[in-house]
Amino acid sequence: TTTKEGEKLITIVNKLQDAFTKVGMANLDLPQIAVVGCQSSGKSSVLESVVGRDFLPRGSGIVTRRPLVLQLIRDTSIQDEYGQFLHKGEKKYFDYKEIEAEIVKDTDRITGQNKGLSPIPINLKLYSPKVVNLTMIDLPGVTKIAVGDQPEDIEKQINDMVLNYISRPNCIILAVTPGNTDLANSDSLKLAKQVDPKRQRTVGVLTKLDLMDEGTDAVEILEGRLMDLKFIGVVNRSQKDLQNNKDVKSALSAEQQFFKNHPKYMHMSHIMGAKYLAKVLNNKLINHIQKCLPQINKSATKELESAQKELQKLGVDDDDLQRKQVAFSSLSGFSQEFKNLIDGTSSDVDDIK
Ligand code: GDP
Ligand code: NA
Ligand code: MG
Repeated sequence: TTTKEGEKLITIVNKLQDAFTKVGMANLDLPQIAVVGCQSSGKSSVLESVVGRDFLPRGSGIVTRRPLVLQLIRDTSIQDEYGQFLHKGEKKYFDYKEIEAEIVKDTDRITGQNKGLSPIPINLKLYSPKVVNLTMIDLPGVTKIAVGDQPEDIEKQINDMVLNYISRPNCIILAVTPGNTDLANSDSLKLAKQVDPKRQRTVGVLTKLDLMDEGTDAVEILEGRLMDLKFIGVVNRSQKDLQNNKDVKSALSAEQQFFKNHPKYMHMSHIMGAKYLAKVLNNKLINHIQKCLPQINKSATKELESAQKELQKLGVDDDDLQRKQVAFSSLSGFSQEFKNLIDGTSSDVDDIK
């Protein structure tokens, strides 16, 4: 099936990236996923559900005040996953609560404690045997009115910050809008449109479906009849759930129950929720990689050839060089696997819009 092809593709890309890293070569330019939306629309919550781990500060008001660049890094040589902050050197964080606390602490360190903002990102790497190499970016919410220590031109500052990430052509935009507000007023959807007018790399996410006024529903939006963009509905943890320490796993199953039991959404429950969203993102990722395959193969081959020449010139009595040669030979193996994939793969992997 196409899904199997997709899995194979990701596995090979992961192996290739491992080999690239081993020989200190530039990394493959994989897509990044950035979340945009107004304040408290549920951006951090959505990101967490997609990653399936609890470590992002969430809450009412402005919580995310610096971009968080979260790099998921596949490492099959470790048992227990851990996080590492760029600003904390080699220190490993095995406890998600500690990661969350450090994000809060370092946000305050740079921006002060009175709602200030900064475009200086927090860089967090999450090493795990169970992730796909992928970068996700949590961004401050789009707002118009300055509060606390925020500058008068807060709107422009945040827009610039957001645009800096979402204007990159390889950025997948998760446009988050709460179901209990008016879509037409969504500044984040407008921002996304600015950089992706054809909505080719924008995925709409409608949050807070559990908080909609009685008698109203979001079926029209979710079916893509209201906008030039189809939305995936989600139900994240409420503030009360957070206070009660409801974990991400039970939140995900409660979400599924919500859609399955809701008279208006039950017919589309299979294409709703965070799990489905993760699947859509995965497909987007596979499509992107497929498009890049010929280019990746070309540059890998080129690197390989020039490196081999250099190795011949220098001889291989050095340990480091021997290590490199081993890595390169595995790289050429992947290169062949890659070539087979390019030749053999049809380009009909589902592109869910
Ligand atoms: P952000 O500011 O966009 O990153 O939003 P957060 O993820 O921090 O969420 C803001 C608040 O809304 C938190 O108190 C969340 O618990 C709550 N929240 C987010 N999504 C939902 C949802 O789908 N349903 C409910 N009931 N609350 C949500
Ligand atoms: Na918030
Ligand atoms: Mg946030």
